[in-house]
Amino acid sequence: MATPKKKASGRKTATPVLTAHVVKHVVLEAQADGNVVVRFEGYTQGLGKFAPAISKRIAELRTGLPLASIASSRAADTEINLLVRRLARSGLLEYRLGPARCGQASVVIEPQIADYRPQISKVANTDTIALSRFAYLRRRGKEMVLESPRASALFRIADPKIAAALAALSQPQKIGQYRKERDFPGLEVLGLLVDCQILFKLKAADIDGARPSEGDPNLVLWDFHDLLFHTRSTEGRQANPLGGLYTYSRLMTPLPAVRPPWPGQAIELNSPGSPPPSPFAALLNARQSVRDFDDEHPITLAELGAFLQSAGRVRGKWTAPADIEDGQGPDVSYASRPYPSAGAAYELELYLAVHKCEGLSRGFYHYDADRHALTPIEARPADLEAQLYDAEFAIGASNAPQVLIVIAARFGRVTWKYSSVAYSLILKDVGVLTQTLYLAATDLGLGGCAIGTNNIDRFARMTGLDFAIEGPVGQFALGRAAGRRPDGDSFEPK
Ligand SMILES: Cc1cc2nc3c(=O)[nH]c(=O)nc-3n(C[C@H](O)[C@H](O)[C@H](O)COP(=O)(O)O)c2cc1C
Repeated sequence: MATPKKKASGRKTATPVLTAHVVKHVVLEAQADGNVVVRFEGYTQGLGKFAPAISKRIAELRTGLPLASIASSRAADTEINLLVRRLARSGLLEYRLGPARCGQASVVIEPQIADYRPQISKVANTDTIALSRFAYLRRRGKEMVLESPRASALFRIADPKIAAALAALSQPQKIGQYRKERDFPGLEVLGLLVDCQILFKLKAADIDGARPSEGDPNLVLWDFHDLLFHTRSTEGRQANPLGGLYTYSRLMTPLPAVRPPWPGQAIELNSPGSPPPSPFAALLNARQSVRDFDDEHPITLAELGAFLQSAGRVRGKWTAPADIEDGQGPDVSYASRPYPSAGAAYELELYLAVHKCEGLSRGFYHYDADRHALTPIEARPADLEAQLYDAEFAIGASNAPQVLIVIAARFGRVTWKYSSVAYSLILKDVGVLTQTLYLAATDLGLGGCAIGTNNIDRFARMTGLDFAIEGPVGQFALGRAAGRRPDGDSFEPK
């Protein structure tokens, strides 16, 4: 007699699928001539011309286009993939992980990096995984979001059980064991989070929670808040609106330019015995931001050299033991430059995106402050173009700056020594250097303007450097001011 089959225990859940969706506030339209446009908040943006068959796929982008259905290399799939990529680059696309047929998605994925595409990394029963120390959950409006400064995407957690299950991963868990938990979130969710470095796989020997065990030596020196601040206060690795948006102007009135005086008797400082203004005081007084440049008389290589020599060259080098264990720490090399730097770290490097400079080809360069020389860096022309265009836009000019100076930080010079204050010290150093650049430009009869934004992802592409090793923290537009002759005389522009 046959033994009766044991009834399968536990719930059977369908494998969730990944789908692409245009974001809620957006209307996507295929026009009769094949052009696809997107409309949002009164704007219309063209996405290019596509074959007529695209209109069916566009409808699917509203209800959910399964990514597996566009994975082939057929021409039709190439087209829809191109459209998906263009939408993602403009922040108009999100991905959902959920049941194949219109059910509630458990996780919604918002790309933070232009070229992000969700990938489900393989996770095996024998793997041990844990939460990255950079991952965090927070409330955004009425949603719970899971983020990390390392991740290329943000995850909206629609199912609270997933949040609870993730909390268990603050302790490393072996998948074979972890998947027996009642609220196991599923291998797909885990695979997505491993791909985004929100979760990481550990080697057996590394289950100690120590920083070097997380698998990326570039991150050992970074404090959580510093890496978060770096990625969230720059462009390139986040999709949040950024810049002068006046978001709360309807809620609050602006503060006055000058602080209202403190009550009490003030001591007047204007007195007849004050010394006459010095040349330095005159230089400070002459400094102003210059945003429009004279492209018929661009800055020359000799002027650029004098500017860099005056503001940024290395003027001395020495080595001293680190001030640890009664001076028995390792030797640290130091260099002195014309501006001060926290802890004499001199972590800031100057990179030059050259648009127009007499005697120097258009291109991207590193300023070697020790040799006082420029080294060309092979960057994609499209990236150089975009970098110069963004600078032009940031200063509201009608032309790109003649030379865009990108101030980058070698973070490890500061984070090796300082805890909690490292990134703030770097930004203070940027302020100090920026004023030095302003004064050097003014002194040489040139003009310049600080720029408050910079794109850390593009810089990583242009230099091939990991964003956590060296990256931009400031920018300065430089050139000959429109209305100023190379001989120093000013004239009224026509
Ligand atoms: C940190 C910093 C960031 C700035 N960012 C920008 C910018 O992105 N675009 C711009 O047009 N000006 C920028 N500026 C220039 C200021 O707008 C300018 O210094 C201010 O209006 C005062 O004018 P002045 O420099 O001519 O005295 C920046 C200045 C600083 C110090």
